[in-house]
Amino acid sequence: MLRNLNLDDFGIYEGISETIVTTSRGWAMNAAPMGIIRRKDKLFMRIFKDSTTYNNVLSEKILVANVIWDPIIIVSATFSDLNDSEFETVNFNSRTFVSLKKAQCWVAFECTNTKLTSESLVTELVPVRTHINKCMIRAPNRGLFGIIEACIHATRYRLTNDGKYLKLIKAYGDIVEKCGGENEKEAMNLLYSYL
Ligand SMILES: Cc1cc2nc3c(=O)[nH]c(=O)nc-3n(C[C@H](O)[C@H](O)[C@H](O)COP(=O)(O)O)c2cc1C
Repeated sequence: MLRNLNLDDFGIYEGISETIVTTSRGWAMNAAPMGIIRRKDKLFMRIFKDSTTYNNVLSEKILVANVIWDPIIIVSATFSDLNDSEFETVNFNSRTFVSLKKAQCWVAFECTNTKLTSESLVTELVPVRTHINKCMIRAPNRGLFGIIEACIHATRYRLTNDGKYLKLIKAYGDIVEKCGGENEKEAMNLLYSYL
C-alpha cells in the first residue's frame, strides 16, 4: 500500500471518476472504461459480469486505472479491443501489469474485499503504484463529455435494444458536433459505427 498518497494528484476525486481500466491475463491485455467510486479516501469499483475486466479482476486481483482524455481511445476501449501497441507492461514486486501509453497518469490498485452479487462484483481498491506521464491542462469541453455520455448510452442500447437510448446518443452526438474538435467528431463517428 502507498502511504500518504494524495489521490487528487492523480485526478481521482470524490464521486465517480471515469477511467480506462487496463488488466491482463497471460499475454492477453484488455482496456475498458470503468468508474472509480471515491468516498473520502475509500475507493471502490463495481464491475458487471460477463466482461473481460470482470474475469481478469477476479483472477488477477489487480487493475490499473488510466486517466486519459483521448476520445478515440475511450470509444475504442468501450466497443472493441485496443491494439497491443497502445499498452505498456510494468513490472513491480514480481508482478506484471499493463497500462496505456497515452494515459496522462495511472494508478495501479490491488483489488481486495471483493464481494460478488448475482450481476456484478464490488471491490475495494488499494493503490500500490503510480505514474505520471504528462500534465495536461485542458478546459472542460462539452464535446468530450458528450462522447462519454454517448458511450454509456450506447452500452445500454447494445444490452437492451431500447430505442430511447438511440435518441439520447443522437442528442449527445449533436453536442459533439457543436462543441467537439476533430478528434471528438471522429470518435463520435466511430461510436455510430458500433451501433
Ligand atoms: C464512461 C463509461 C463508464 C463505465 N463504467 C463501468 C463500470 O464502472 N463498471 C462496469 O462494469 N462497466 C462500466 N462501463 C461499461 C464497460 O466499459 C463495457 O461493458 C465494456 O464493454 C467492458 O469491456 P471488457 O469486456 O473489455 O471488460 C462503462 C462504460 C463507459 C462508457
